[in-house]
Amino acid sequence: MKINTTTLAKDFIKENVKSGDIVIDATMGRGNDTLFLRQLVGEKGFIYAFDIQEEALQATKNRLIENNLYNNVSLILDGHQNLDKYIKQNNISCVVFNFGYLPRASHNIATKPDTSILAIEKSLQVLKVKGVVSLCVYQGGDTGFEEKEVILNFVKNLDCNKYTVIVSEFFNRPNYPPIHIKIIKEI
Ligand SMILES: C[S@@+](CC[C@H](N)C(=O)[O-])C[C@H]1O[C@@H](n2cnc3c(N)ncnc32)[C@H](O)[C@@H]1O
Repeated sequence: MKINTTTLAKDFIKENVKSGDIVIDATMGRGNDTLFLRQLVGEKGFIYAFDIQEEALQATKNRLIENNLYNNVSLILDGHQNLDKYIKQNNISCVVFNFGYLPRASHNIATKPDTSILAIEKSLQVLKVKGVVSLCVYQGGDTGFEEKEVILNFVKNLDCNKYTVIVSEFFNRPNYPPIHIKIIKEI
């Protein structure tokens, strides 16, 4: 299989999440990332997962049950911009964002630039040192380019002494493929 944004994100997450870690899936969707994170953190870890759609919660719950992994996870029906209501510690190893809309559902319910930025800011607060944020950002199509521009502008201005930011894009592929952004908290 050719490398794509999902494989880039998974490799980055796998490099940075180990058994026993506490992590966040900021956009649960149909549970692919929640399941992947649950496999990585194992029986001693924990996952907080957010989505604003009940359909996403149910799909994710079913996905975990099918895989016998519906434990050590809190599925939260709320926006990721409110994550500080639920997460009071600052020992999170990894926060995963996969922006956009729920596949096979309404394209009108999607992540929005202002709440996405608030959620990234709050994620950085709860990360431990050397913790990471993985961002898959879509462009063009239904969601347009606005969210991508706003997110790129935000991460570009993060203090380089505190955070390392790496942006990956498939430069010679057509149709505006999603980009991947890695953030590493350095101090
Ligand atoms: C592309 S999907 C995520 C895919 C998912 N990570 C997976 O593995 O299947 C984006 C999700 O973000 C959710 N979403 C939109 N706004 C949100 C918000 N403010 N907080 C949390 N989730 C949100 C949508 O409902 C949708 O399910």
